[in-house]
Amino acid sequence: MSSAELSVFIQALGVHTPERKLTNAELSSMVETSDEWIKTRSGISERRIAGPDENPSDMGAQAAAQALKRAGLTTADIDLLIVATMTPDVPFPSTACLLQAKLGLRRDIPCFDVSAACSGFVYALQVATDMMRSGSYRHALVIGAEKLSSVVDWSDRTTCVLFGDGAGAAVLTTTTDKHVGILGNLLGADGNNSELLHCVGGGSAAPATPESIKAGQHHLRMNGKEVFRHAVRVMTESCERVLAKCGMKSEQVAWFIPHQANIRILEAVASQLNVGLDRFPSNLDRYGNTSAASIPLALEEAWREGKIKHGDLVLIVAFGAGLTWGATLLRWHEPPR
Ligand code: ACO
Repeated sequence: MSSAELSVFIQALGVHTPERKLTNAELSSMVETSDEWIKTRSGISERRIAGPDENPSDMGAQAAAQALKRAGLTTADIDLLIVATMTPDVPFPSTACLLQAKLGLRRDIPCFDVSAACSGFVYALQVATDMMRSGSYRHALVIGAEKLSSVVDWSDRTTCVLFGDGAGAAVLTTTTDKHVGILGNLLGADGNNSELLHCVGGGSAAPATPESIKAGQHHLRMNGKEVFRHAVRVMTESCERVLAKCGMKSEQVAWFIPHQANIRILEAVASQLNVGLDRFPSNLDRYGNTSAASIPLALEEAWREGKIKHGDLVLIVAFGAGLTWGATLLRWHEPPR
């Protein structure tokens, strides 16, 4: 089959979120904050927190197992695995390799991580799609898995109220039907603004020492106001650009699935695109910002609740540390069973 004939679609989704819920009320006893402040400024009511033995590879494996079952596939069918994460289990090997072993995937397939923070799932989706269009891979697993609770500074009220843990997985499959699946995408980055959201310690530039840990260098730090401003601009532009690239208009999009960072960001993007907020499904209230896991979690929920239907045009859009951003336009396809 000629590679020019192949399209790639999301055949099934799976999710996993930790049992433990951390409510705004509990957070109010840890730092100087309130349920009212967190809800009105971010839209978040609670978030999930992973246990000590519940790592991104574990959560990702659970989500992938559900996606495989829903797709009617087995581990033997998967010939490519990409994991998007900014909180890998360990610096190396990749979380993808750990997950491959936990899930029992074939030993002859490529497995690797993509690091693009909250845009990670959109980046991984595009990398997988481009690899699959060549015809070399029939089924891929793309997973967003995060344990942000491990990098958050639980004494910093400006960040600790925003993040949560979880994982989402998509089974991608090739088809010769050109009118379904991923129609177009774009990715971007601006490393000049990396200091707006970063973690300076623990890498090779500043390996962990007792002093660096005491100084909190292993924690996530963020300039929330500036990130907010960039997020609204790049998410709006990314939607407009990917639509223009595909010759479509926002009116044709049934569902926008945005990275879940702050309900006010979603409101601002919807307003700038002149689209009703009811077309931006959100689960922020229950999960907070789960970084690379947020889009598959939101997409799975919108599908499971019967919002997304066969034939719908869906626009996925994200931004994150880096700064990074990305958007994917797809025609939802449910293969006959
Ligand atoms: N509880 C109570 N008060 C707080 C809290 C809190 N949790 N956090 C901050 N405040 C205070 C501030 O200290 C400030 O007080 P001051 O006026 O006395 O100085 C006041 O509340 C207002 O703070 P702002 O920072 O101006 O609040 P803002 O309305 O901008 O909301 C927020 C802050 C929620 C962080 C917002 O800026 C935001 O969501 N930014 C985007 C963050 C984001 O999306 N990050 C994820 C990026 S994706 C990735 O790659 C991980």
